[in-house]
Amino acid sequence: EWTMENFIDLEVEKIRANVGDRRVLCALSGGVDSSVTAMLVHRAIGEQLTCMFIDHGLLRKDEGTRVMEMFEGKFDINVVKIDAAERFLTKLQGISDPEQKRKIIGNEFIYIFEEESSKLENMDFLAQGTLYTDVIESGTATAETIKSHHNVGGLPEDMKLDLIEPLNTLFKDEVRELGTELGLPESFVWRQPFPGPGLGIRVLGEITEDKLKIVRESDAVLHDVLEKAGLDKEIWQFFTALPDMRSVGVMGDNRTYDYTVGVRAVTSTDGMTSDWARIPHEVLETISTRIVNEVPHVNRVVYDITSKPPATIEWE
Ligand code: XMP
Repeated sequence: EWTMENFIDLEVEKIRANVGDRRVLCALSGGVDSSVTAMLVHRAIGEQLTCMFIDHGLLRKDEGTRVMEMFEGKFDINVVKIDAAERFLTKLQGISDPEQKRKIIGNEFIYIFEEESSKLENMDFLAQGTLYTDVIESGTATAETIKSHHNVGGLPEDMKLDLIEPLNTLFKDEVRELGTELGLPESFVWRQPFPGPGLGIRVLGEITEDKLKIVRESDAVLHDVLEKAGLDKEIWQFFTALPDMRSVGVMGDNRTYDYTVGVRAVTSTDGMTSDWARIPHEVLETISTRIVNEVPHVNRVVYDITSKPPATIEWE
């Protein structure tokens, strides 16, 4: 009989038999898949697992701290944190094309991962959170081009690590169940999808530290409002984006010329199609008022009322 407990026991046995007394590396992003992978492998081999968490400077507010507190702090998992924000921002200077930004961020990520992992001694395996759907999807050409931006398939070819992919028979909902069974808190298990290039594709056009700050802060406000309104779980994905535009406003006696923040909130089952979330007007009002009041250099908030298709969920 297939139960989650049996699955865990079996996988733990398999990983132990495979790994023996050797060492495993795992790239931790804080997303559901890599988090559950780390938890499962840790259950199997404990200290022999080392995770690497690369902070590319494009994370949401407090995200890096939260990941470290959870895995290193609470679960006592070895995590090496790489602070690479400056390196990424330098590479991204002057770049405004979305696909080019994705490419730069993806490549830089791999370089850093290679560089840093070669400093760790005696790594023999790489644990990855590949899901069953990833395995199926990476078969076709279109899926491959889509997926090239989506976390999978970016591994260095000459990397001499054997792969461990303990989730590759599971669907997303099973991964969530597994995570819960392994003691991962809801905030990680029910993490909404977050793109690999992070806030890099939510600052439209050229990325600067100042613009990142606006996206980060406004996103945190949005999160807080929706959570307090009890809507955060029923909305598939929500975030703010910063179009590369400013407009005129008025504050007190003064004319302002400041940024517009776009709010995106969608319902969906798989991210392939989506509808804009019917957030009650009062909640939208709170979102707007709080963002303008709490985030410097924002004087206008707009709500995206486009479905996918024809729009995409992200703005880039
Ligand atoms: P779109 O914008 O294509 O997004 O409707 C569909 C889902 O995919 C996520 N997304 C990405 N994830 N790297 C990722 O890992 C990316 O470059 C990327 N672009 C979009 C998006 O957040 C949504 O969940």
